[in-house]
Amino acid sequence: MADTATPNLIRRADYAPPAFLIDTVALEFDLVPERTVVRNTMRVRRNPDASRAAHLELMGEQLEFVSAAIDGKPFPNAHPHEHGLLLDQVPDSFELTLTSICNPAENTTLSGLYVSSGNFFTQCEAEGFRRITYFLDRPDVMASFTVTLRASKADYPVLLSNGNLLEQGELPDGRHFARWEDPFRKPSYLFALVAGKLVALEERVKTGSGKEKLLQVWVEPHDLDKTRHAMDSLIHSIRWDEQRFGLELDLDRFMIVAVSDFNMGAMENKGLNIFNTKYVLANPETATDTDFSNIEAVVGHEYFHNWTGNRVTCRDWFQLSLKEGLTVFRDQEFSADMAGGATDEAARATKRIEDVRVLRQMQFAEDAGPMAHPVRPESYVEINNFYTMTVYEKGSEVVRMYQTLFGRDGFRNGLDLYFKRHDGQAVTCDDFRHALADANGRDLAQFERWYSQAGTPRVSVRTRYDAAQQRYSVTLRQGYGDAVPAARETQKGPLLIPFAIGLIGKDGRDLPLQLDGEAKSSESTTRVLEFTQTEQTFTFVNVGQEPLPSLLRNFSAPVIVEYDYTGEQLAFLLAHDSDPFNRWEAGQRLATRELLALAARAATGAALQFDDSVVAAFARVLTDETLSPAFRELALMLPSEAYLAEQMAESNPAAVHAARQFVRKRLANALRDDWLKVYEQHRTPGAYETTPEAAGHRALKNLALSYLTELDDSADAVRLAAAQYETANNMTDRAAALSALLNAAAPQGGSPEAQHALDDFYRRFEKEPLVIDKWFALQATQRGGARHPVIDTVRKLMTHPAFNLKNPNRARSLIFSFCAANPAQFHAADGSGYAFWAEQVIALDALNPQVAARLARSLELWRRFTPALRDSMRAALEKVAAQVKSRDVREIVEKALA
Ligand code: TRP
Ligand code: ZN
Repeated sequence: MADTATPNLIRRADYAPPAFLIDTVALEFDLVPERTVVRNTMRVRRNPDASRAAHLELMGEQLEFVSAAIDGKPFPNAHPHEHGLLLDQVPDSFELTLTSICNPAENTTLSGLYVSSGNFFTQCEAEGFRRITYFLDRPDVMASFTVTLRASKADYPVLLSNGNLLEQGELPDGRHFARWEDPFRKPSYLFALVAGKLVALEERVKTGSGKEKLLQVWVEPHDLDKTRHAMDSLIHSIRWDEQRFGLELDLDRFMIVAVSDFNMGAMENKGLNIFNTKYVLANPETATDTDFSNIEAVVGHEYFHNWTGNRVTCRDWFQLSLKEGLTVFRDQEFSADMAGGATDEAARATKRIEDVRVLRQMQFAEDAGPMAHPVRPESYVEINNFYTMTVYEKGSEVVRMYQTLFGRDGFRNGLDLYFKRHDGQAVTCDDFRHALADANGRDLAQFERWYSQAGTPRVSVRTRYDAAQQRYSVTLRQGYGDAVPAARETQKGPLLIPFAIGLIGKDGRDLPLQLDGEAKSSESTTRVLEFTQTEQTFTFVNVGQEPLPSLLRNFSAPVIVEYDYTGEQLAFLLAHDSDPFNRWEAGQRLATRELLALAARAATGAALQFDDSVVAAFARVLTDETLSPAFRELALMLPSEAYLAEQMAESNPAAVHAARQFVRKRLANALRDDWLKVYEQHRTPGAYETTPEAAGHRALKNLALSYLTELDDSADAVRLAAAQYETANNMTDRAAALSALLNAAAPQGGSPEAQHALDDFYRRFEKEPLVIDKWFALQATQRGGARHPVIDTVRKLMTHPAFNLKNPNRARSLIFSFCAANPAQFHAADGSGYAFWAEQVIALDALNPQVAARLARSLELWRRFTPALRDSMRAALEKVAAQVKSRDVREIVEKALA
C-alpha cells in the first residue's frame, strides 16, 4: 500500500457498476476452528450494464487459496494475491467453484468467520464476507444463497444459516450436516452462519396475513433465563411494523442469536440476526431499565432492517444512511409508540429527549471535528470508520424531517412508493428522496443538501412585536459558525429546514397562529415553518399581546438555535411550554448558561456563585406532581460534562467538572428536604415491573439519591445508598446504589461501605459477564478525588483476572468508559490519561482494528482543548500514528493530526 497521506481513498464519485454479476452461490463449510474449508460454487455472468472487463477480480482477505474450477474443469488462470483473486480470460457466463481455507480460531478481528466461547459466528458487514470466501463483496451484487454446514455433532450440535432449513442429517465420524436456503436474493454482507452448543427460546406467532412463523432466540444454555424480554421485543416489533408501515415478516422463521464477542450492537443478517449479548440478555437481577429499553430498541432496529436494508438495500457504502438513518428513525418511533402510543405526547417526549441528547452530545461534536462528514459521505479510507453518529443519528433526523414536512400519512405514502419501486433492489439516498417527493407531489431538490453538507447548521432568531399592528415577526437566519471548517468547504447554499414554532401568551397558554396572508388561524398551536432561504421573515398577525416564542418544537431539525432568552423567560418556558421537548430544552438552556459561566470562572480560579432564581426554577420541576417522574428526572439531570466542555471556546474538562460539581452540591444542599421526599415517594415496593412508569419512578428516585450523596453531610445518604444496595430486587437500584456509594467516597479515595458493596457485587455476579462489565464501568467512570486519580484504579483493573482486551464489551467497560465517559479524570493535567490511551490503542490495533479505531476517536477533538492539554494530546496522537498498522486506526489519527 502506498504510504501517502490518504492511502486508497475510496470516492463516491468513482462508483461504477460491477463488471460481473453473481446469480447463485452454493457454500459448503467444513467447520474446524483452526482450519475451516470453504467450497464456493457460483453462477457468474457479465453485467450487461457495465463496460467489458478483461478479467474477473474477486475480493478475498486472510484466505488460503486451494483451487479454482470453471464449469467443472480445473481453471489454471486464477491468481491469488493479498487482497483477492484475479481470474484471467473467463467466459461470459459460467459456473465457478473455488476452495479456500480460513482460521476462525485465530480471528481476533471479529470480522468474517470467528470463534467465540467455542462456537462459530460470522460478521460480514461491511466487508467481512471476503474473509470467508472470494467474492464480489459489494452490496450491489445480490445473489441467491444455499449453505451446507458440516461439523462435529458433539461440539456443534446446532447449525444455523439464513432462510429455511432444507435438510439435516448424520455424517460418518460423529459429524453431521445442515442445509439452508435463503429464498431472497441478498448482498454478501447479509450472509451469516452460527454453529455450536446453543439453546433457543421459541415462540410461534401468526402475522397479519394469517401465516404462522417460528421465532427463536438462541443463547448459551445458562442464559436461557434471560431471553424473555428479547422475544417480547421481537413480537412487538413484528406487530408494530405491520400496523405502522404495513410491512410483514417475509420468512417462515426468524432467528436471533446472542454472542459475547461482537464489535457493535447487532447485525441484521437475513433471517438470522446476530446480537451482542448486551442487547439480548436481560432479567431484573442482571439488567437495568436502560438495558431493557436498549434491548427493545436494538431488537426493533435489526428486525426493521428486514425491509429497510435487506429487501431494499444499498447500492454502495456511501449510501449507508439509506438503511441506517431510516432504520434508526423507525426504531426511535417504535420505542416512542411503545412508551406512549401515538397520542401520549409527554411519554413520547421522554424518548425524543433521550435521542436528542445523544445527537447533540455526540453527533454535533463529530460534526465539529476532523471526522466531520455529510450523512452521505464523499470518501473514506476504511468504511468501518463511517458507522458514525452522523450516518445513524443525523441520518435519522433527516428522515424525521420528511415526516415533519409531510405528516405521518404523507411519510407512509412515500415509504409505500419506495417499496413499490425498489423492492429487491440496491439503491441510493436519491432514490429514497425521489420516492418521498413523488408520493407527496413535491420537488425536494433543495432537501438534497441535507445529504451532501457536513457540519451543524446554526439558526439565529430575531423577533419583533408591533403592538399597534398586532403583528409578530420572526426572522430566521441560517449558516455555519466559524468552528465548522467542514461546512465551509462544502457549503452548497441554504437548507430546507422545517422549523416548528409556537407562541406563548402571558398566561402560559399557546396563542392561535395566523400567518400574514392567511384567512384565519390554524387549529394547531404549533406551526412548521418551511425555512428555505439564508434569511427569511415569517409574520404572524392578530397577535394581541407580545408572545414568548417556543422555537424548534420537538427539535424539528438537527440545528443549533441561537436566541437571547432571558433567564426569566427560560424559567417561564420551563414552567409552561405546551411542547414537552421545549420545556426540557428551556431547563437545559438555563443550566447550560449558568454552568458555562461558572466554568469560565473556574478556569481562572475565581470563586463560584450561583443564581438563586435558577435553583427556584429547578425546585419547581422537582416538586411538580403534574409532571411524570421520567420527565422530571430528565429535566433535573444537568447537561453532561462532555457537552459543556464542547460549548467552551477552549474545552477545559477540569473547569467544567468543578462547575458542574458546584451546581450539583448547591442543588443538593438547597433542596435537601425535597430530594429526600422525592426519594421516599418514588420507591417501587413489591415485584419489579419493567413498565415505563415504574422505570420513571426508579430513575427519579435514583437521581435523588445521587444528589443526596452530594450533601455537605452525606452520612445519611450513604446509609440510604448502602441499604438500597443490600435490599434491591433489581439491577437498576443495585447499580445506582453502588454508583452513589462510589461517588460519595470519591474525595477520600474510598470508604468501607463502597468497598463492601464493590466486593459483594463482584462475588454475586461473578458468572454474569454483562454484570461484571458494569462493575468495571462503574469504577472507570467514578469521580475520583484530588489525591485519588481514577487512572490508578483503571491500571490496577487492567491486571484483574476478569479483564480481557480481546472481548470488546470488556475493553469498552474499562478502557472506553475511562477514556470517553470520565472526561475530568481522562484529561488529567499530567497527561496520564493520554499515555494510557496510546498504549491501549496500540495494543488493540494488533487484535481488533475496528475496536481500536473507535478508541482512537476519543482524542480527535484535541485542537479544541486548552493549550497544555492540546500539546500533550498531540504527542500521544503522534506516538500512535507512528506505531499503528491498521487502515482503520491510521485513518482516524491521520485525519486528527492533518
Ligand atoms: N448494520 C448493523 C446495524 O446497525 C451495524 C453493524 C453490526 C456493523 N456489526 C457491524 C457495522 C460490524 C460494521 C461492522 O444494525
Ligand atoms: Zn442498523
